Amino acid sequence: MNFTEIAKNRYSCRSYDTTRKVEDEKIKAILESAILSPSACNSQPYHFTVCKGEKAKEVAKATQSMGMNKFASDAPVMIVISEGNYNKTASIGAKMKGNDYRSIDIGIATAYLTAEASAQGLGTCILGWFDDKKIRKICGLDSAVRLVISLGYAKEGGVVPTKKRKAYDELVSEV
Ligand SMILES: Cc1cc2nc3c(=O)[nH]c(=O)nc-3n(C[C@H](O)[C@H](O)[C@H](O)COP(=O)(O)O)c2cc1C
Repeated sequence: MNFTEIAKNRYSCRSYDTTRKVEDEKIKAILESAILSPSACNSQPYHFTVCKGEKAKEVAKATQSMGMNKFASDAPVMIVISEGNYNKTASIGAKMKGNDYRSIDIGIATAYLTAEASAQGLGTCILGWFDDKKIRKICGLDSAVRLVISLGYAKEGGVVPTKKRKAYDELVSEV
């Protein structure tokens, strides 16, 4: 798949094949691509915690409240993305420019991660609805959890949502 195909094919997978394990080499390839993503001053202010088996189930539970993310319990792998430290230059830049580069960097890394998962034939869903305290405890983390990614093979016959996007001209202009 070329990039356009990946962009068109990737979707938020909310239906996983519970009988199919995700190969360790694929998890590694996905994280290696995430690590290749650009970040402000190359500081890579994030950490990825890979959760499988019981840990994945515990993390999934911590993303479920008010009826949200029930599907996450079927994902064989959950990847927790937590904050890491800025390097000196990124920290100075963020202060001087009043910009939250860390969130931007985590977003870009997540885009790479989910794109590579798609290229590997795997489904993902980015989860921003979770209990930070519970996940920190489950994973032994002492910094903020920013996103959780459910990962697994899509269930055959599972729902593939149709892409809904704003019109190009609403989002793009030229001056
Ligand atoms: C920061 C962020 C947080 C999200 N949180 C959730 C979530 O908690 N649960 C969920 O089912 N989807 C979540 N999504 C998925 C979005 O709903 C989805 O990306 C969007 O509707 C576009 O659909 P697509 O990914 O299928 O193209 C999240 C996406 C992002 C980028």
